[in-house]
Amino acid sequence: MSLEKVYDVPLEVAAGAHITEALYREMYERSIKDSDKFWSEQAERFVDWFKPWDKVQDCDFGTARIRWFEGGKLNVSYNCLDRHLAEKGDQVAIIWEGDDPDLDRTLTFRELHEQVCRFANVLKKHGVEKSDRVCIYLPMIPEAAVAMLACARIGAVHSIVFAGFSADALRDRILDADCRYVICADEGNRGGRTVPLKTNVDTALQSCPNVKTVIVVRNTGGTIDWDARSVWYHEELAEASPDCPPESMDAEDPLFILYTSGSTGKPKGVLHSTGGYLVYAAMTFQYVFDYRPGEIYWCTADVGWITGHSYTVYGPLCNGATTLMFEGIPTYPAPDRFWRVVEKHRVNIFYTAPTAIRALMAQGDNWLETTDRGSLRVLGSVGEPINPEAWEWYYHHVGRERCPIVDTWWQTETGGILITPLIGATRLKPGSATRPFFGIVPAIVDSQGNVLEGDCEGVLTITRSWPGQARSVFGSHQRFFETYFSAYPGKYFTGDGARRDADGYYWITGRVDDVLNVSGHRMGTAEIESALVLHDSVAEAAVVGYPHNIKGQGIYAYVTLVAGISPSAELEQELIQLVRKEIGPIATPDLIQWAPTLPKTRSGKIMRRILRKIAANEIRDLGDISTLADPGVVEEIIQNRANRS
Ligand code: PRX
Repeated sequence: MSLEKVYDVPLEVAAGAHITEALYREMYERSIKDSDKFWSEQAERFVDWFKPWDKVQDCDFGTARIRWFEGGKLNVSYNCLDRHLAEKGDQVAIIWEGDDPDLDRTLTFRELHEQVCRFANVLKKHGVEKSDRVCIYLPMIPEAAVAMLACARIGAVHSIVFAGFSADALRDRILDADCRYVICADEGNRGGRTVPLKTNVDTALQSCPNVKTVIVVRNTGGTIDWDARSVWYHEELAEASPDCPPESMDAEDPLFILYTSGSTGKPKGVLHSTGGYLVYAAMTFQYVFDYRPGEIYWCTADVGWITGHSYTVYGPLCNGATTLMFEGIPTYPAPDRFWRVVEKHRVNIFYTAPTAIRALMAQGDNWLETTDRGSLRVLGSVGEPINPEAWEWYYHHVGRERCPIVDTWWQTETGGILITPLIGATRLKPGSATRPFFGIVPAIVDSQGNVLEGDCEGVLTITRSWPGQARSVFGSHQRFFETYFSAYPGKYFTGDGARRDADGYYWITGRVDDVLNVSGHRMGTAEIESALVLHDSVAEAAVVGYPHNIKGQGIYAYVTLVAGISPSAELEQELIQLVRKEIGPIATPDLIQWAPTLPKTRSGKIMRRILRKIAANEIRDLGDISTLADPGVVEEIIQNRANRS
């Protein structure tokens, strides 16, 4: 018998929720049995179309062909802005809260609309055309949303690069998407320090001859270098016309590219399209967060990640919601910052990542006691499995048992939330993302691809398409097919493991591939290894994840040095700096262990399973090591591990 805890959604929240238990069952069944009709209704309900679609769906996982609402015409910025002007023109669309607690500002829908139209005209003036790629490298400031919506308005495809990525990572993404335009800020602010964004762009562009124009937002006013390609955002905006009719886009026209890490090679440019993505982002936003008009919603995710795309910008604005953007970090100037922001702006719905919850939990409850969180109604979690202790703290201490927690499972590739509780319909179990959203049919499979039934554990796949699903990998549809549709033919491979309990609840157990989740940031071990081996002294490197109290997973790097080179603290620092330069601070290894050689099979494959166990200090349980070319290596690595901890 399971001893897990089950919580009912607090009555006052469940009452009046959009989706009740009976409605969930009825709608879920219809979403599967009468899928075309169901999705037609949702597409009409959440989005205004210039022209209706000819065909609701045309999807085949056998060839990775995914099409929704083909023939339909719409514009994302029109849906997020213009259509709200008549009734909500003076309502605040974006609340911005600076890194410095004394700085904030608001933009109404009318003001945001005007800025977006002006900026869309600026883009046009500089030659941006429909389907051109535009790189956005901005901190969490309203101009990031303006830039996204301006691209969407004219049919340009944005590719946002998280402002914590290094110049080298930025360069790779600009080149891969062949972006000719870059939008950045002079600097970003983070925890009282500045981040040199324009300087990073300057470095990146030394290898990007195709970039024509860099549009620079003045954010900190810090000193930066200037060149012939650079123009100021505010100067251009002031001169531009506020009149810019939205481009009529096909439902399947691309909306954005977002790079994410996989188990092999360099990051992939996941491509999302216009119609299906918007329908799915808008619909999940309303149902999952049970959004009600007038509420203040805050998602702490950066626009550099998919959560920032779908649930800071597109989902909320499409619903006419007020969305809060925060440039800072949870612990600056003090660990009560999140709660101070909640109190200051009377936030009703708060969506964050388990790593932030754990970090704040570790600071103690005193930081909660001096703040009033009475405005909160719904709490959300995303990005990694939330451990039950953190869930309980979030529920009892942050929400004072008044607010349900929606633990939402999804991915960059899914565009929106796939597995989640629905307020009013779902009893909560700490640590479980609970049940599939409408239209989502998960299947748990074993390593041979057999579908497992009932209470089981295996690899999580999804058996049919949903409108928010990614359409391709930019530049390589073959890679899209191979990554997601070849492992289990006919099914979408998520890369995650999952357990399903007797109540049909899903428990995500983490990645089954060589992808790490460090503080909710997704990273391929291969990327970090490639960075390490760039150093002349490194012969070989293997990176694995290990359990980390705050980050969820930490980065553990085993490094074999070139013959004749001795390990040193200095070399360790050089390697850390190298990874930060190649990828960014988020990829900083937590531990580097020198390994005389790495454990390999006779065919030369590194046995990561063993390295993971050693990193986690689970050395009594190494499993079968008889296939190793030299089993003695393991003993040596264990010894080194013991010496360092
Ligand atoms: O492993 C899962 C984990 O984050 C991965 C997706 O990362 P990314 O594409 O960066 O998108 C993150 C935000 C949607 C998944 O494969 N993950 C995300 N949400 C959860 C989660 N793991 C467990 N529970 C979640 N709620």
